[in-house]
Amino acid sequence: MQKKIYLDYAATTPTAPEVLVAMNKSLNDTFANPASTQHFFGEQANQQIETSREQISAVFNAKSPDFIFTSGATESNNLVLKSVAQRFQLHGKHIITSATEHKCVLDTCKFLESQGFKITYLKPNADGLIDLNKLADSITEETILISIMHVNNETGVIQNIEKIAEIAAEQGIFFMSMPRKVSVNFTLI
Ligand SMILES: Cc1ncc(COP(=O)(O)O)c(C=O)c1O
Repeated sequence: MQKKIYLDYAATTPTAPEVLVAMNKSLNDTFANPASTQHFFGEQANQQIETSREQISAVFNAKSPDFIFTSGATESNNLVLKSVAQRFQLHGKHIITSATEHKCVLDTCKFLESQGFKITYLKPNADGLIDLNKLADSITEETILISIMHVNNETGVIQNIEKIAEIAAEQGIFFMSMPRKVSVNFTLI
């Protein structure tokens, strides 16, 4: 049979073997509902989650309560976009994103438009990169959030999220991104 080689690492990667081992152990040993802390098994599962939260926080040199686990990227993106929009709408109702974001970001932006928010969809250059000058120029007094993914899941183009984060921080605007690491998919804000 012809040998097949998987090359679509921009969309998703195989799970790292050490992650599989840790997940298997966790599913076997601490399968209980972590919200059921009235009993030993639930408490054990709860502690496992808190340990993971601390370990992930340490990687980012952050405080552990700052990390929220979700079921996946669609939920994370919805949570951040809608929460920031709702909480900061009195500061302004403008969000900047790109025309090539994942569908879950574009769909949520469409929903926010229906709620009276203005969304700027930046068109990337021919090489797929966002023009950072255009990004800076599109910021207004009303801008509350910039949402640009790290690696495009279809083209594999890598955006300069360090620079975008700097531009956002200089203006006191939230920056949301989906950083791509081996088998980890989460939203940073
Ligand atoms: C950039 C990006 N955003 C969102 C998603 C949706 O992820 P999920 O299937 O975890 O909801 C993906 C999926 O790969 C993605 O690559």
